[in-house]
Amino acid sequence: MIKIAITGSSGLIGSRVIELLHDKFIFIPISIEQMDITNKDQVDKIISSIDFDFFLHLAGYTNVDGAEVNKKLAWKINVDGTYNVFTAVQKQRKKFVYISTDFVFDGKVPPFNENILPNPLSYYAKTKYEGEKIVKDQAMIIRLSYPYRKEFPDKLDFVRSIKSMLKKNKTLTMVKDAIITPTFIDDIAYGFEYLIHHFTPEIYHLIGSDSLSPFQAAQTITSNFRLNENLIKPISFLEYSINKAMRPQYSKIISSKNNFYRMKSFKEGLALL
Ligand SMILES: NC(=O)c1ccc[n+]([C@@H]2O[C@H](COP(=O)([O-])OP(=O)(O)OC[C@H]3O[C@@H](n4cnc5c(N)ncnc54)[C@H](OP(=O)(O)O)[C@@H]3O)[C@@H](O)[C@H]2O)c1
Repeated sequence: MIKIAITGSSGLIGSRVIELLHDKFIFIPISIEQMDITNKDQVDKIISSIDFDFFLHLAGYTNVDGAEVNKKLAWKINVDGTYNVFTAVQKQRKKFVYISTDFVFDGKVPPFNENILPNPLSYYAKTKYEGEKIVKDQAMIIRLSYPYRKEFPDKLDFVRSIKSMLKKNKTLTMVKDAIITPTFIDDIAYGFEYLIHHFTPEIYHLIGSDSLSPFQAAQTITSNFRLNENLIKPISFLEYSINKAMRPQYSKIISSKNNFYRMKSFKEGLALL
């Protein structure tokens, strides 16, 4: 069986990938306690001591607004950390998969497929794009967008955040003049399974099959979970963006390469939560 060493295995996405694919691959989770990716000596030591075929690099500094104030830390983890693990894996001559984000795009002229040149707006996105540049043409880069899943107490995704606010009868302001592309994490896992068996050092978008405004997304959530739609109020992208990291406004992400796994629409994904 193929052996996959994985960082970020305790995170929102990594933990689900392992849950769903543990009988298809041998996963070798590497926790931050075993290997802090910012510690080059530790990274070299650990990676040279394990036996693996693929390295899946999910670990990252993922707080988009936090990165604007913790720039050094975000760079250290997302750029230096990626460099450390990538160079250590290269020494072992093993295949590398880097996980990136739709936030590398500026969201100005949608849609965005794999061939469009990134133009990151936020500091988080800049660090993720720097990571892409480190591995480009030598590793597989998989970009994800607004991932959501069933229960995961350690970290709320946007679907569970909205759901929990509405359940508490809190009013929610949701952006009407923007576009997001939500992605069911189980689909990411199954798409990833295919890509491991068909590895090429290219960019792939593993993203949901439809895009909608955050306002429409919240409405879809209320209808799926039978929550109170009247609690959702519209807000403009400009108003929402005050005191926040810049995000792509029209993040309609598509894939010109995914002819191997049918990703679900937002409605289809929600129906499985
Ligand atoms: N979530 C999203 O909306 C989203 C969207 C697009 C792309 N992505 C990308 O997908 C990947 C996974 O995201 P996620 O949401 O699953 O992340 P997450 O839940 O925030 O988990 C991040 C993981 O990184 C580990 N980590 C952080 N700093 C580390 C360090 N210095 N050394 C070793 N491990 C470290 C964390 O370990 P501990 O838990 O032990 O601290 C955790 O396992 C990231 O690369 C992210 O950029 C995420």
